[in-house]
Amino acid sequence: MQVIRSVNTMSEIIQKYHLQHKQIGFVATMGFLHEGHLQLMKEAKKENAIVVASIFVNPLQFGPNEDFEKYPRDEQSDTLLAEKTGVDVLFIPTVKEMYPHAMLIHMSIRERVNVLCGHSRPGHFDGVLTVLTKLFHIIRPTKVYFGLKDAQQVAVVDALIQDLNFPMELVGLPTVREKDGLAKSSRNVNLKEHERREAVWIYKGLLAGQQLLLKGEGNPALIIKEVTQTVEKHISGKIDYIELLSYPALKPVSTINQQVILAAAVYFDEARLIDNLILHPN
Ligand code: PAJ
Repeated sequence: MQVIRSVNTMSEIIQKYHLQHKQIGFVATMGFLHEGHLQLMKEAKKENAIVVASIFVNPLQFGPNEDFEKYPRDEQSDTLLAEKTGVDVLFIPTVKEMYPHAMLIHMSIRERVNVLCGHSRPGHFDGVLTVLTKLFHIIRPTKVYFGLKDAQQVAVVDALIQDLNFPMELVGLPTVREKDGLAKSSRNVNLKEHERREAVWIYKGLLAGQQLLLKGEGNPALIIKEVTQTVEKHISGKIDYIELLSYPALKPVSTINQQVILAAAVYFDEARLIDNLILHPN
């Protein structure tokens, strides 16, 4: 596995692969890798000749009071894990390398972001789009792999690829969970012991909502109420949102007669956790 830190070197390597007509699978990450990230890399390995992964904690997608400084980092362990998983090229640029000067262009998405995390984290998805546009141009992948743990991010990347004609295919993969059901996240290490025990109730709350839907309940408000009550009963953290929307358009629905997302976000002391289920009506 090659570890590359410069944009120019990365571009040269990619140019060589393109001349050899090799398909490139790309996995963008912020590091502190876990099984959720590795699943994306494994799938990319199956479907492409070359796998490129990036590790870059992107300052543009963090708000002023968010956890950019506290975001967990472990380059040594990440490098070992990526290599073991079959990554061919690991791109680890510095902030200076990615943003040598303040950006002259501001990217902004106006649909799919006034809800869920986009509502609670203004500007977050603009930062995600900016960094992904840069990474997609540097790496020129055939296929890009994203996790449905961040389902709104997948909807936003889908809009980016469609609206701006990025010549690549988007693959969304299911959420990888801990044994008890908690969605794996780099941020889970910032949970206190009791918070870690409680955190699984985000998922259990969503499952209780899904249960209602499976029983035939089609009223979003009642499903949201069920999730809220379950989460509130078991979690000391503060609910940021519990929402049910069409997916991937992320519009409000009055009855559930199409694919929807049931999503939740909870603030704990040092971590904000998110989870979701994508549901279909009976
Ligand atoms: P990060 O949070 O590191 O996640 C990188 C990728 O791993 C994303 O596609 C995310 O959805 C996926 N992922 C994380 N946890 C997962 C889980 N438990 N199951 C399945 N997939 C999971 O998302 C980002 O970084 C950044 O916003 C990025 C896209 C790199 C842009 O900076």
